[in-house]
Amino acid sequence: MTRARVANVEDALAIARIYCAAADRRTARAEDYNEGIADRLATFETEPRTADDITRGLRERAQRWPTVVVEREGRVIAWASASEYRARACYAGVAEFSVYVAREARGTGAGRAAMDALVSECEGRGIWKLLSRVFPENEPSRKLLAKVGFREVGTYRRHGRLDGEWRDTVIVERLIGEAAR
Ligand SMILES: CC(C)(COP(=O)(O)OP(=O)(O)OC[C@H]1O[C@@H](n2cnc3c(N)ncnc32)[C@H](O)[C@@H]1OP(=O)(O)O)[C@@H](O)C(=O)NCCC(=O)NCCS
Repeated sequence: MTRARVANVEDALAIARIYCAAADRRTARAEDYNEGIADRLATFETEPRTADDITRGLRERAQRWPTVVVEREGRVIAWASASEYRARACYAGVAEFSVYVAREARGTGAGRAAMDALVSECEGRGIWKLLSRVFPENEPSRKLLAKVGFREVGTYRRHGRLDGEWRDTVIVERLIGEAAR
């Protein structure tokens, strides 16, 4: 059975494994490192994160900005989270989001379940827009986001450098809640 729910600090290890790093830097092996980061397809992030980093983030942000996880057979296989876009008051209802699925669970509906749950949780908190930037070559992400109602706004050219290479990013947005009506 697959179900999505709001994350809590007990999920930090699973989130870190999927996104990022081994739980403990001292015992981290290369293959434990962030499945998302290692691919170089999902994010400009290059630093692995520990479960402690994730726990801190959840504690500091969870009241305003939700993180959701998707469980299957009792195991966390995906997560999605929203975070502040800009500190200005006019952007109070705009959130950036991330979504990551464990490698072995990709293509089985977990990403869609995570995004659906994140949208619903954000709507309940009065957030009116979700946005993100996606690498143009990240077809799975672009496909998923199109399927769950995101619009591609345009492309930032040479928006960042990863491993010394220029990378473009596609901006995606979806109006939710009151703004979508
Ligand atoms: C992008 C990602 C989150 C997609 O999640 P997923 O669980 O594999 O996607 P789902 O199985 O829920 O698929 C949702 C839809 O997207 C489509 N899709 C997903 N992966 C696809 C692929 N590789 N090729 C074509 N379509 C794809 C599916 O067909 C599905 O549409 P459908 O329900 O109408 O069939 C996942 O591949 C991932 O974690 N990638 C690494 C991290 C990343 O890139 N995150 C996004 C950063 S912005």
